[in-house]
Amino acid sequence: MKQITVVLATNNRDKVKEIKPLLEDIGPGIEVFSLNDLEIDIEIEETEETLEGNAKLKTDAVFDLLSKRFDNLVTFADDTGLEVTALGGAPGVYSARYAPVPEGTSPTYEDNVNHLLTKMNGMEDRKACFRTVVALKGRIEKNSKPHTFESAVEGSVEGAITLEKTGGNGFGYDPVFWVNSARSTFAQMSIEEKNRISHRSRAVRKAVEELRRILTPKLSVF
Ligand code: IMP
Repeated sequence: MKQITVVLATNNRDKVKEIKPLLEDIGPGIEVFSLNDLEIDIEIEETEETLEGNAKLKTDAVFDLLSKRFDNLVTFADDTGLEVTALGGAPGVYSARYAPVPEGTSPTYEDNVNHLLTKMNGMEDRKACFRTVVALKGRIEKNSKPHTFESAVEGSVEGAITLEKTGGNGFGYDPVFWVNSARSTFAQMSIEEKNRISHRSRAVRKAVEELRRILTPKLSVF
């Protein structure tokens, strides 16, 4: 396999730690970098109204920036949202900035969780789902010809919003997200347990399979 550079459009160390080994496992020719590794400091504003749109914004921006620097380049980005049925799918794409805060500041995880619990006060239907979309964009040499591709895959987990925070692990909405299949909140799980079943790991594993398929040279049939 030719040398292929995969750039993760994120600086989140936890995401990098989770995603890098899965991608490197595809083959010896794959080199994986985060934006930090390449000393790239770009702010990509998430202005789209869908998870897929925002993930693509990130792969597009990083691809445009680096396509001259690397011959065989793949960019990889994810976007996640919590979708609550009784709230019409909110906070969805706005999950990171759900609680109202003074202009110029960002809500903390705790602000967002408290806002969600207040909004759902007295609601009986607590159904919710975590969804991650992973976008890929690349240009590689395949069967001795340049091959460009764009793709998006998703992973999700069904659950419910609890009445109060439960568990001390994880981040974001983990203390109030009850996972139906595990009969506990994400915040009650170890990181390994969460990574086995989470929306993000499901989407990442699908993206890795998609990339493996794209990068494998087609065999000629005689
Ligand atoms: P991002 O697209 O991964 O940055 O996620 C957007 C927001 O969704 C984060 O700021 C968190 O509030 C929330 N979120 C994403 N993934 C998780 C998760 O695995 N558990 C809990 N909250 C999450």
